[in-house]
Amino acid sequence: MNFGTVGTGWITSSFIEAAQLSNQLNLTAVYSRSEEKAQIVADTYNAADVFTDLEEMAKDKNIDVVYIASPNSVHFEQALLFLKNKKHVICEKPIFSNLRELEEAHKIAEANGVFLFEAIRNIHTPNFSILKEKLHMAGKIRSAILPYIKYSSRYDLFLKGEEPNIFSSVYSGGALVDLGVYPLYLAVGLFGEPNKFSYHPVKLHSGVDGSGTLVLDYGEFICTILCSKVSHSTLLCEIHGEVGTFVMEDAAPISQIEFIDSHALASQIVSVPLEEKDMVYECITIASIIETNNKEKYKELKSISEIVLRITEEARKQNDIIYASEK
Ligand SMILES: NC(=O)c1ccc[n+]([C@@H]2O[C@H](COP(=O)([O-])OP(=O)(O)OC[C@H]3O[C@@H](n4cnc5c(N)ncnc54)[C@H](OP(=O)(O)O)[C@@H]3O)[C@@H](O)[C@H]2O)c1
Repeated sequence: MNFGTVGTGWITSSFIEAAQLSNQLNLTAVYSRSEEKAQIVADTYNAADVFTDLEEMAKDKNIDVVYIASPNSVHFEQALLFLKNKKHVICEKPIFSNLRELEEAHKIAEANGVFLFEAIRNIHTPNFSILKEKLHMAGKIRSAILPYIKYSSRYDLFLKGEEPNIFSSVYSGGALVDLGVYPLYLAVGLFGEPNKFSYHPVKLHSGVDGSGTLVLDYGEFICTILCSKVSHSTLLCEIHGEVGTFVMEDAAPISQIEFIDSHALASQIVSVPLEEKDMVYECITIASIIETNNKEKYKELKSISEIVLRITEEARKQNDIIYASEK
């Protein structure tokens, strides 16, 4: 399957390298607003074509799939263009700004016989499957704490008076949609949709959240998600059951999982070592869904993506975090 890319940040290079490792996606085209930047990426990874016109790229018959890694608020318009031109789309997280956009894009994808995926690095890893399969070992789940707290170098720029896209309401930024989305995917992937939830952000002067705590209420237990782009943490992720506890090094990509028996206090590592280019797992899953037209697996991913976006949108709106496009 041939694919093209949109956006030339470091994440695009990571995706291309993972795609090459997967042996299932072949890079043929690179788009950038700058021809020079597109050419550098194309030369680095041996892509035949460069584009600076998105409409032209969308009409290229040689492209089957497009990977979009532009600023969040731009995803929707770009994805729609490719879907309407019958290209499958893999769009970086957070897929869109709100559920209305996601529902419209899903309708257009369906009408054009193509798939739309949210690129998320954790739930496609073998360790996510292991965790899901072994979750019963913990007994009745009583609480979970899933942090994703990582100081962003772009916060230095923000403090100097700039407004990097990820701290901007114009570009649909903020800590929850940028980092909180990883543990949220983990929670929804493992536990499903919560009964109710509340978000407690620390807002920046740009109007978006620099950090925050998302409380997911599952009735018999509470899952707390901590996210921040303005501080650093050494906290691990933990899921606490009456019989045992799972401890994860991180919410994405889920590098290591330890299980600790509550009574014996004996511990065991239940995870497997991951590929260094962990995006390879999402490439393999997505390519396989497209190749085999696996509608069941697609429906499952689509549903998680919808639940996650419903939560982040409502969490924002509970706190008057409204993106420029929504005003
Ligand atoms: N999965 C992951 O682990 C991961 C990690 C990092 C980021 N991401 C996601 O990837 C996406 C891109 O993140 P990023 O930090 O690379 O974003 P970014 O630096 O703001 O922009 C990414 C690229 O988009 C293009 N671009 C910038 N401003 C634009 C605009 N106003 N209109 C259209 N295109 C524009 C630029 O490419 P050109 O100049 O070449 O056009 C730029 O290199 C985000 O959705 C982010 O959440 C995911």
